[in-house]
Amino acid sequence: MTVVTSPGKLILCGEHAVVYDRPAIALPLTQICAQVHVVDSPYGSGIMFDAPNLQRHWTLAEEPEDPASALVVHLLEHVGIARNGKTPDLHITITSDIPVAGGLGSGAAVATALLRAISTHLDCTLSREDVSKLVYESERHFHGTPSGIDNTVIAYEQPIWFCRSSAYSPWRTIPTQSMSASAEPHIQPIVIAGPLTLLIGDTGIRSETRLPVDAVRQRRERQILHYEALFDAIGAVVTRIRAALAEGNLAALGLLLNNNHLLLQQMGVSSTELDQLVDAARESGALGAKLSGGGWGGVMLALVELPQVKQVSKALLAAGAVQVYQTQIAPTTKS
Ligand code: MEV
Repeated sequence: MTVVTSPGKLILCGEHAVVYDRPAIALPLTQICAQVHVVDSPYGSGIMFDAPNLQRHWTLAEEPEDPASALVVHLLEHVGIARNGKTPDLHITITSDIPVAGGLGSGAAVATALLRAISTHLDCTLSREDVSKLVYESERHFHGTPSGIDNTVIAYEQPIWFCRSSAYSPWRTIPTQSMSASAEPHIQPIVIAGPLTLLIGDTGIRSETRLPVDAVRQRRERQILHYEALFDAIGAVVTRIRAALAEGNLAALGLLLNNNHLLLQQMGVSSTELDQLVDAARESGALGAKLSGGGWGGVMLALVELPQVKQVSKALLAAGAVQVYQTQIAPTTKS
Protein backbone atom coordinates (compact mmCIF):
# COMPACT_ATOMS: atom_id res chain seq x y z
CA MET A 1 0.00 0.00 0.00
CA THR A 2 1.21 3.53 -0.76
CA VAL A 3 -0.09 6.53 1.19
CA VAL A 4 0.73 10.12 0.23
CA THR A 5 -0.43 13.34 1.87
CA SER A 6 -0.37 16.81 0.26
CA PRO A 7 -1.00 20.08 2.08
CA GLY A 8 -3.55 22.77 1.32
CA LYS A 9 -2.34 26.25 0.41
CA LEU A 10 -2.91 29.80 1.54
CA ILE A 11 -2.29 32.84 -0.67
CA LEU A 12 -0.74 35.40 1.66
CA CYS A 13 -0.90 38.23 -0.87
CA GLY A 14 -1.06 39.01 -4.59
CA GLU A 15 -4.02 36.87 -5.70
CA HIS A 16 -5.66 37.86 -9.00
CA ALA A 17 -2.83 40.25 -9.93
CA VAL A 18 -0.64 37.11 -10.15
CA VAL A 19 -2.70 35.99 -13.17
CA TYR A 20 -1.43 39.20 -14.88
CA ASP A 21 2.28 38.68 -14.27
CA ARG A 22 2.58 40.41 -10.90
CA PRO A 23 4.11 38.51 -7.96
CA ALA A 24 2.26 36.74 -5.15
CA ILE A 25 3.33 34.94 -1.97
CA ALA A 26 1.81 31.59 -1.02
CA LEU A 27 2.25 29.27 1.96
CA PRO A 28 1.65 25.52 2.33
CA LEU A 29 -0.99 24.69 4.95
CA THR A 30 0.03 21.43 6.55
CA GLN A 31 -2.85 21.40 9.07
CA ILE A 32 -5.33 20.52 6.37
CA CYS A 33 -4.44 17.90 3.80
CA ALA A 34 -5.52 15.64 0.98
CA GLN A 35 -4.54 11.99 1.27
CA VAL A 36 -4.39 9.25 -1.35
CA HIS A 37 -4.04 5.48 -0.64
CA VAL A 38 -3.16 3.15 -3.49
CA VAL A 39 -3.30 -0.66 -3.34
CA ASP A 40 -3.04 -3.28 -6.07
CA SER A 41 -6.40 -4.67 -7.06
CA PRO A 42 -7.21 -8.07 -8.63
CA TYR A 43 -5.81 -8.75 -12.11
CA GLY A 44 -8.00 -7.29 -14.85
CA SER A 45 -10.07 -5.05 -12.57
CA GLY A 46 -8.57 -1.82 -13.97
CA ILE A 47 -8.45 1.39 -11.95
CA MET A 48 -11.09 1.97 -9.27
CA PHE A 49 -11.58 5.11 -7.21
CA ASP A 50 -13.23 5.71 -3.85
CA ALA A 51 -13.87 9.16 -2.40
CA PRO A 52 -15.60 8.40 0.91
CA ASN A 53 -15.94 12.11 1.87
CA LEU A 54 -18.02 12.62 -1.28
CA GLN A 55 -19.69 9.19 -1.00
CA ARG A 56 -18.46 8.37 -4.50
CA HIS A 57 -17.15 5.20 -6.10
CA TRP A 58 -16.26 5.03 -9.80
CA THR A 59 -13.95 3.33 -12.25
CA LEU A 60 -11.67 4.87 -14.82
CA ALA A 61 -13.34 2.85 -17.58
CA GLU A 62 -16.85 4.08 -16.66
CA GLU A 63 -15.95 7.73 -15.98
CA PRO A 64 -12.88 8.68 -18.01
CA GLU A 65 -13.98 12.36 -18.00
CA ASP A 66 -13.87 12.64 -14.20
CA PRO A 67 -10.99 15.02 -13.26
CA ALA A 68 -9.21 12.35 -11.17
CA SER A 69 -9.60 9.73 -13.94
CA ALA A 70 -8.33 12.18 -16.58
CA LEU A 71 -5.34 13.08 -14.42
CA VAL A 72 -4.43 9.42 -13.91
CA VAL A 73 -4.64 8.77 -17.68
CA HIS A 74 -2.42 11.80 -18.26
CA LEU A 75 0.09 10.54 -15.68
CA LEU A 76 0.19 7.04 -17.17
CA GLU A 77 0.81 8.53 -20.62
CA HIS A 78 3.47 10.84 -19.19
CA VAL A 79 5.41 7.98 -17.61
CA GLY A 80 4.81 5.71 -20.62
CA ILE A 81 2.75 3.06 -18.84
CA ALA A 82 -0.49 3.23 -20.80
CA ARG A 83 1.30 3.01 -24.15
CA ASN A 84 1.75 -0.74 -23.94
CA GLY A 85 -2.03 -0.96 -23.94
CA LYS A 86 -2.34 -2.40 -20.44
CA THR A 87 -3.20 -0.07 -17.59
CA PRO A 88 -2.31 -1.25 -14.07
CA ASP A 89 -4.93 -2.68 -11.69
CA LEU A 90 -5.24 -0.26 -8.79
CA HIS A 91 -7.67 0.69 -6.05
CA ILE A 92 -7.28 4.39 -5.22
CA THR A 93 -8.89 6.00 -2.18
CA ILE A 94 -9.00 9.80 -1.99
CA THR A 95 -9.77 11.64 1.25
CA SER A 96 -9.37 15.31 2.09
CA ASP A 97 -10.13 17.65 4.96
CA ILE A 98 -9.60 20.73 2.76
CA PRO A 99 -12.94 22.44 2.06
CA VAL A 100 -13.85 22.19 -1.64
CA ALA A 101 -14.01 25.57 -3.46
CA GLY A 102 -12.94 27.27 -0.23
CA GLY A 103 -9.80 29.03 -1.50
CA LEU A 104 -7.42 26.58 0.21
CA GLY A 105 -6.23 24.61 -2.81
CA SER A 106 -8.38 21.51 -2.41
CA GLY A 107 -8.27 20.53 -6.12
CA ALA A 108 -4.51 21.04 -6.49
CA ALA A 109 -3.80 19.16 -3.24
CA VAL A 110 -5.90 16.15 -4.28
CA ALA A 111 -4.27 16.14 -7.74
CA THR A 112 -0.76 16.37 -6.24
CA ALA A 113 -1.39 13.56 -3.74
CA LEU A 114 -2.88 11.43 -6.54
CA LEU A 115 0.13 11.89 -8.83
CA ARG A 116 2.64 11.28 -6.08
CA ALA A 117 0.87 8.22 -4.70
CA ILE A 118 0.43 6.50 -8.06
CA SER A 119 3.93 7.30 -9.33
CA THR A 120 5.45 6.04 -6.04
CA HIS A 121 3.29 2.91 -6.12
CA LEU A 122 4.37 2.17 -9.72
CA ASP A 123 8.03 2.99 -8.96
CA CYS A 124 8.17 5.90 -11.43
CA THR A 125 10.17 8.95 -10.52
CA LEU A 126 8.39 12.29 -10.81
CA SER A 127 10.25 15.46 -9.82
CA ARG A 128 8.31 18.17 -8.02
CA GLU A 129 8.53 20.21 -11.24
CA ASP A 130 6.87 17.31 -13.13
CA VAL A 131 4.15 17.07 -10.47
CA SER A 132 3.58 20.82 -10.53
CA LYS A 133 3.35 20.89 -14.36
CA LEU A 134 0.94 17.94 -14.57
CA VAL A 135 -1.32 19.49 -11.91
CA TYR A 136 -1.16 22.84 -13.72
CA GLU A 137 -2.21 21.24 -17.01
CA SER A 138 -5.15 19.54 -15.33
CA GLU A 139 -6.19 22.81 -13.59
CA ARG A 140 -5.99 24.60 -16.95
CA HIS A 141 -8.25 22.01 -18.47
CA PHE A 142 -10.90 22.39 -15.80
CA HIS A 143 -10.48 25.98 -14.55
CA GLY A 144 -9.46 28.12 -17.51
CA THR A 145 -6.48 30.37 -16.78
CA PRO A 146 -4.87 29.56 -13.43
CA SER A 147 -1.64 31.43 -12.74
CA GLY A 148 0.09 28.26 -11.55
CA ILE A 149 0.65 29.44 -7.98
CA ASP A 150 -1.57 26.79 -6.33
CA ASN A 151 0.08 23.76 -7.96
CA THR A 152 3.54 25.27 -7.34
CA VAL A 153 3.22 25.95 -3.60
CA ILE A 154 1.60 22.55 -3.02
CA ALA A 155 4.25 20.70 -5.03
CA TYR A 156 7.14 22.61 -3.36
CA GLU A 157 5.62 22.50 0.17
CA GLN A 158 7.36 25.70 1.26
CA PRO A 159 6.56 29.43 1.35
CA ILE A 160 7.18 30.84 -2.13
CA TRP A 161 7.42 34.03 -4.11
CA PHE A 162 5.73 33.30 -7.44
CA CYS A 163 5.62 35.41 -10.58
CA ARG A 164 4.68 34.28 -14.09
CA SER A 165 7.15 36.78 -15.50
CA SER A 166 10.81 36.66 -14.49
CA ALA A 167 11.11 40.25 -15.77
CA TYR A 168 8.84 41.66 -13.02
CA SER A 169 10.00 44.81 -11.29
CA PRO A 170 7.73 46.99 -9.12
CA TRP A 171 9.30 50.05 -10.73
CA ARG A 172 8.61 49.07 -14.30
CA THR A 173 5.14 48.99 -15.75
CA ILE A 174 4.26 45.68 -17.38
CA PRO A 175 3.07 46.06 -20.99
CA THR A 176 -0.70 45.61 -20.88
CA GLN A 177 -0.67 42.79 -23.44
CA SER A 178 1.81 40.63 -21.56
CA MET A 179 0.26 37.38 -20.39
CA SER A 180 3.21 35.05 -20.23
CA ALA A 181 1.17 31.84 -20.57
CA SER A 182 4.07 29.90 -22.01
CA ALA A 183 7.00 31.45 -20.08
CA GLU A 184 8.54 29.64 -17.13
CA PRO A 185 7.37 31.20 -13.86
CA HIS A 186 9.83 32.77 -11.47
CA ILE A 187 9.68 30.81 -8.21
CA GLN A 188 11.79 31.55 -5.15
CA PRO A 189 11.70 30.44 -1.54
CA ILE A 190 11.15 33.46 0.71
CA VAL A 191 12.86 34.53 3.91
CA ILE A 192 10.64 34.68 6.99
CA ALA A 193 12.58 36.15 9.91
CA GLY A 194 10.29 35.16 12.77
CA PRO A 195 7.30 32.86 13.32
CA LEU A 196 3.96 34.09 12.02
CA THR A 197 0.59 33.20 13.45
CA LEU A 198 -2.29 33.36 11.02
CA LEU A 199 -5.97 32.70 11.62
CA ILE A 200 -8.01 31.61 8.64
CA GLY A 201 -11.71 32.36 8.79
CA ASP A 202 -13.96 30.36 6.47
CA THR A 203 -17.13 32.18 5.32
CA GLY A 204 -18.66 28.77 4.52
CA ILE A 205 -19.59 30.17 1.11
CA ARG A 206 -18.21 27.95 -1.63
CA SER A 207 -16.96 29.86 -4.62
CA GLU A 208 -15.20 28.32 -7.60
CA THR A 209 -12.02 30.31 -8.26
CA ARG A 210 -12.66 30.53 -12.00
CA LEU A 211 -15.79 32.70 -11.46
CA PRO A 212 -14.10 35.77 -9.90
CA VAL A 213 -11.06 35.16 -12.17
CA ASP A 214 -13.38 35.36 -15.23
CA ALA A 215 -15.10 38.46 -13.84
CA VAL A 216 -11.75 40.22 -13.34
CA ARG A 217 -10.74 39.31 -16.89
CA GLN A 218 -13.95 40.80 -18.32
CA ARG A 219 -13.68 43.98 -16.22
CA ARG A 220 -10.04 44.39 -17.17
CA GLU A 221 -10.98 44.19 -20.85
CA ARG A 222 -13.44 47.06 -20.33
CA GLN A 223 -11.18 49.18 -18.08
CA ILE A 224 -7.68 48.09 -18.92
CA LEU A 225 -5.75 51.04 -17.48
CA HIS A 226 -7.67 51.00 -14.21
CA TYR A 227 -7.12 47.26 -13.71
CA GLU A 228 -3.46 47.41 -14.73
CA ALA A 229 -2.97 50.19 -12.16
CA LEU A 230 -4.62 48.01 -9.49
CA PHE A 231 -2.37 45.07 -10.42
CA ASP A 232 0.71 47.35 -10.27
CA ALA A 233 -0.35 48.60 -6.84
CA ILE A 234 -0.75 44.99 -5.64
CA GLY A 235 2.66 44.07 -7.09
CA ALA A 236 4.23 46.92 -5.09
CA VAL A 237 2.43 45.80 -1.89
CA VAL A 238 3.60 42.18 -2.39
CA THR A 239 7.19 43.40 -2.86
CA ARG A 240 6.95 45.33 0.43
CA ILE A 241 5.38 42.33 2.16
CA ARG A 242 8.38 40.25 1.13
CA ALA A 243 10.67 42.83 2.76
CA ALA A 244 8.52 42.97 5.93
CA LEU A 245 8.67 39.16 6.21
CA ALA A 246 12.46 39.19 5.81
CA GLU A 247 12.77 41.90 8.50
CA GLY A 248 10.25 40.27 10.83
CA ASN A 249 8.32 43.56 10.90
CA LEU A 250 4.86 42.31 11.90
CA ALA A 251 3.32 45.78 12.31
CA ALA A 252 4.27 46.71 8.73
CA LEU A 253 3.12 43.31 7.49
CA GLY A 254 -0.33 43.81 9.07
CA LEU A 255 -0.78 47.22 7.42
CA LEU A 256 0.32 45.87 4.05
CA LEU A 257 -2.17 42.98 4.28
CA ASN A 258 -4.92 45.56 4.97
CA ASN A 259 -3.74 47.50 1.95
CA ASN A 260 -3.91 44.39 -0.25
CA HIS A 261 -7.50 43.77 0.94
CA LEU A 262 -8.49 47.32 -0.04
CA LEU A 263 -7.11 46.78 -3.55
CA LEU A 264 -8.99 43.45 -3.85
CA GLN A 265 -12.19 45.22 -2.76
CA GLN A 266 -11.61 47.80 -5.51
CA MET A 267 -11.19 44.91 -7.95
CA GLY A 268 -14.66 43.67 -6.93
CA VAL A 269 -13.66 40.24 -5.60
CA SER A 270 -14.53 40.68 -1.91
CA SER A 271 -18.01 40.11 -0.49
CA THR A 272 -20.09 41.30 2.47
CA GLU A 273 -19.28 38.12 4.38
CA LEU A 274 -15.52 38.39 3.73
CA ASP A 275 -15.52 42.09 4.68
CA GLN A 276 -17.38 41.29 7.91
CA LEU A 277 -14.75 38.75 8.92
CA VAL A 278 -11.89 41.08 7.94
CA ASP A 279 -13.42 43.94 10.01
CA ALA A 280 -14.09 41.64 12.99
CA ALA A 281 -10.47 40.42 12.96
CA ARG A 282 -9.04 43.95 12.87
CA GLU A 283 -11.44 45.25 15.55
CA SER A 284 -10.59 42.39 17.90
CA GLY A 285 -6.83 42.95 17.76
CA ALA A 286 -5.42 41.38 14.57
CA LEU A 287 -2.46 43.26 13.12
CA GLY A 288 -4.00 43.02 9.65
CA ALA A 289 -6.49 40.99 7.65
CA LYS A 290 -7.50 40.32 4.06
CA LEU A 291 -9.41 37.90 1.89
CA SER A 292 -7.32 35.03 0.54
CA GLY A 293 -7.69 33.22 -2.80
CA GLY A 294 -10.31 33.91 -5.43
CA GLY A 295 -12.79 35.77 -3.19
CA TRP A 296 -16.62 36.09 -3.39
CA GLY A 297 -16.63 33.47 -0.61
CA GLY A 298 -14.02 31.06 0.65
CA VAL A 299 -11.61 32.29 3.27
CA MET A 300 -9.88 35.33 4.75
CA LEU A 301 -6.70 35.46 6.82
CA ALA A 302 -5.71 37.52 9.85
CA LEU A 303 -2.20 38.12 11.17
CA VAL A 304 -2.29 37.86 14.95
CA GLU A 305 0.10 37.85 17.87
CA LEU A 306 -0.21 34.77 20.09
CA PRO A 307 -1.94 36.52 23.05
CA GLN A 308 -4.69 37.73 20.66
CA VAL A 309 -5.44 34.34 19.08
CA LYS A 310 -8.39 33.48 21.33
CA GLN A 311 -10.14 36.83 21.12
CA VAL A 312 -9.72 37.13 17.34
CA SER A 313 -10.94 33.54 16.80
CA LYS A 314 -13.98 34.28 18.95
CA ALA A 315 -14.70 37.48 17.03
CA LEU A 316 -14.41 35.65 13.69
CA LEU A 317 -16.89 33.00 14.81
CA ALA A 318 -19.26 35.68 16.14
CA ALA A 319 -19.02 37.50 12.78
CA GLY A 320 -20.16 34.41 10.85
CA ALA A 321 -17.07 32.23 10.25
CA VAL A 322 -18.14 28.57 10.01
CA GLN A 323 -14.63 27.44 10.85
CA VAL A 324 -11.42 29.09 12.06
CA TYR A 325 -8.05 27.43 11.40
CA GLN A 326 -4.89 28.52 13.18
CA THR A 327 -1.58 28.13 11.41
CA GLN A 328 1.94 28.86 12.55
CA ILE A 329 4.45 29.69 9.80
CA ALA A 330 7.96 28.77 10.87
CA PRO A 331 10.89 31.10 10.15
CA THR A 332 12.98 30.26 7.08
CA THR A 333 16.53 31.33 6.39
CA LYS A 334 17.46 30.69 2.75
CA SER A 335 16.51 33.06 -0.05
C1 MEV B 1 -6.29 31.28 -6.53
O1 MEV B 1 -5.71 30.55 -5.48
C2 MEV B 1 -5.51 32.53 -6.79
C3 MEV B 1 -5.98 33.37 -7.97
O2 MEV B 1 -4.99 34.37 -8.15
C4 MEV B 1 -6.13 32.56 -9.23
C5 MEV B 1 -4.81 32.05 -9.77
O3 MEV B 1 -3.76 32.57 -9.41
O4 MEV B 1 -4.86 31.13 -10.59
C6 MEV B 1 -7.31 34.06 -7.69
